Order: sequence, then structure tokens, then C-alpha cells
Amino acid sequence: MKNHVWRPLVIVLAIVGGILIVRTLLVPKDFGIQERGYMYGWHRKSNEAEWKKYPVKYKTAVICRECHKDQYDDIKDSPHHSISCENCHGPNYDHPQNPLGLKIDRSRGLCIRCHAYLPYKDSARANIPGIDPEKHYPQAECVMCHYPHDPRRSNPKYQKSEVKS
Ligand code: HEC
Ligand code: HEC
Ligand code: HEC
Ligand code: HEC
Repeated sequence: MKNHVWRPLVIVLAIVGGILIVRTLLVPKDFGIQERGYMYGWHRKSNEAEWKKYPVKYKTAVICRECHKDQYDDIKDSPHHSISCENCHGPNYDHPQNPLGLKIDRSRGLCIRCHAYLPYKDSARANIPGIDPEKHYPQAECVMCHYPHDPRRSNPKYQKSEVKS
């Protein structure tokens, strides 16, 4: 065969060989198909231990129940039963050891996010009962009237009368 056929072949072989050498140098020794086989198993074994050490951001209401049974029981049978504690209070992280983790947000913004009236009836969000934030008691925080863990009730902290019977 002529040179002009051999030369490109040598170059292609050199590239493939180069890739194979670089691959053996760069791919970690414990990368492989592991227990779950060819289809889903490809990963680096030592990465499992790394993820186990990764701090869990969000816990669930069941965790909160251990120490905040009152709030848990209040919200359970309320219109807010489907909202997780951490939706309003932020991620648990390592609360209560780390007091910076969880917050209490008493601003109107917390509630308006879900309750500002939406005129477009094509989403689940629009089915949440809405108020007009400019007209619905704009001078006060929502939690001064509505108890957030059962919003049909008035907040015992701020007043005696019922918001809604
Ligand atoms: C191991 C017990 C424990 C667990 C579990 C726990 N908490 Fe707490 N929490 C506490 C303690 C202790 C405090 C501080 C004392 C207090 O205000 O009651 C606190 C305070 C709070 C406060 C008030 C913070 C403030 O600024 O006054 C909120 C809100 C709260 N927790 C929400 C949660 C939520 C939501 C969860 C679940 C994701 C949770 N907690 C899980 C023990 C716990
Ligand atoms: C709709 C938002 C919302 C949800 C959901 C929610 N909270 Fe709250 N939570 C608040 C607000 C706002 C306050 C402050 C209330 C106030 O100042 O009267 C508060 C206060 C608290 C406090 C401080 C003590 C108190 O009662 O004022 C704790 C503890 C707490 N929440 C725990 C929880 C736990 C546990 C859950 C889930 C079972 C939960 N919260 C779900 C909004 C929420
Ligand atoms: C993550 C979204 C979300 C947040 C945040 C939220 N709510 Fe709600 N709220 C809901 C849902 C969902 C319902 C139940 C709607 C239903 O039953 O159809 C509800 C129900 C209510 C109701 C009862 C309405 C009725 O006529 O039955 C009131 C009042 C209310 N919320 C006030 C508040 C207040 C005050 C806050 C802030 C402390 C707040 N909500 C924060 C989603 C939210
Ligand atoms: C001064 C007290 C007060 C404040 C502050 C207040 N509300 Fe209300 N809210 C009420 C009363 C009373 C009702 C029941 C009568 C009515 O519909 O006006 C009500 C009704 C509601 C309803 C039910 C509406 C429906 O169509 O079923 C929602 C949702 C609501 N409020 C959310 C909020 C949110 C969100 C905030 C803060 C942005 C807030 N409220 C602030 C007193 C208050």
C-alpha cells in the first residue's frame, strides 16, 4: 500500500493509544460497574462514602415532631397540613445544635408567596385561596391574625377573637 494510506492510519492508532494511556492514568482505580451491573452501576466506589458524609439539608415533619409536638398536632388537621415545616422555616441542617439553621419568618412575604390572588386558573397554585395583599389588612403581619399552624384560627399570641369560625 502507498504511504498516503499508512500515514493517517498510524496517526489514528496513535490517538487511540494516547486516549487509552491517559484513561488508565486519570480514571480512579475503584471506578467500575460495581454491584448493580452495566446498565446503572457505573460509579467510583469511594464516592459512596463521600455522599454519606454530605450534610442532609432538609429533614421531614416526623423529625420535627420529636421536639415540637404541639405545632405538629396543630397543623396536622389544618388547611396547612400538606405544607412541610421546612417550607416555611427553612432547612433543618443540624438544628437544634446549630441555632442558625432554622428561622422564624413573620413577614407578610412568607404568606403572600402562596396566597396572593392569581387570576389565571390553570395551575394548582391558583386553587389556593387568594387575597389581595394591597387590600387585605396591609398594615399588619398576617400572623398577627392567622395562626400559621392552623390559619383558620386566630393567633393566640396576638389576640383573643376568632379569625373565622
Ligand atoms: C431534638 C429536638 C428538636 C428537633 C428534632 C427539632 N427542634 Fe426545633 N427547636 C428545638 C429547641 C431545643 C429549640 C429552642 C428552644 C425553643 O424555642 O423551643 C427549637 C426551636 C425551634 C424554632 C424556633 C426558633 C426561634 O428562632 O425561636 C423553630 C421554628 C423550630 N425549632 C422548628 C423546627 C422544625 C421545623 C424542625 C424539623 C425540621 C425542628 N424544629 C426539629 C428542638 C428541636
Ligand atoms: C405556613 C408556614 C408555616 C408552617 C408550614 C410551619 N410553621 Fe412554624 N411558624 C410559622 C410562623 C410564621 C411562626 C411565628 C408565629 C408567631 O410569631 O406567632 C412559627 C412559629 C413556630 C415555632 C415557634 C413557637 C411558636 O409556636 O410560635 C415553632 C417551634 C414552629 N413554628 C415549628 C413548626 C413545626 C414543627 C412545623 C411543622 C409541623 C411548622 N412550624 C410549620 C410558620 C409556619
Ligand atoms: C407553601 C404555600 C403556603 C404558604 C407559605 C402559606 N399557605 Fe396558607 N394555605 C396554603 C394551602 C395549600 C392552603 C389550603 C388550601 C385549600 O384547602 O384548598 C392554605 C390555607 C390557608 C388559609 C385558609 C383559607 C380558607 O379559607 O380555608 C389561610 C387563612 C391561610 N392559608 C393563611 C396563611 C398565612 C397567614 C400564611 C403565612 C403565615 C400562609 N397561609 C402561608 C398554602 C400556603
Ligand atoms: C387584621 C387581621 C388580619 C390580617 C393582618 C390578615 N388577615 Fe387574612 N383574614 C382575616 C379575616 C378576619 C379573614 C376572614 C374574613 C375575610 O375573608 O376577610 C381572613 C381571611 C383570609 C383568607 C381566606 C380568604 C378566602 O377567600 O377564604 C386568607 C387566604 C387570608 N386571610 C390570608 C392572609 C394573608 C396571606 C395575610 C397577610 C398577607 C393576612 N391574611 C392578613 C384577618 C386578617
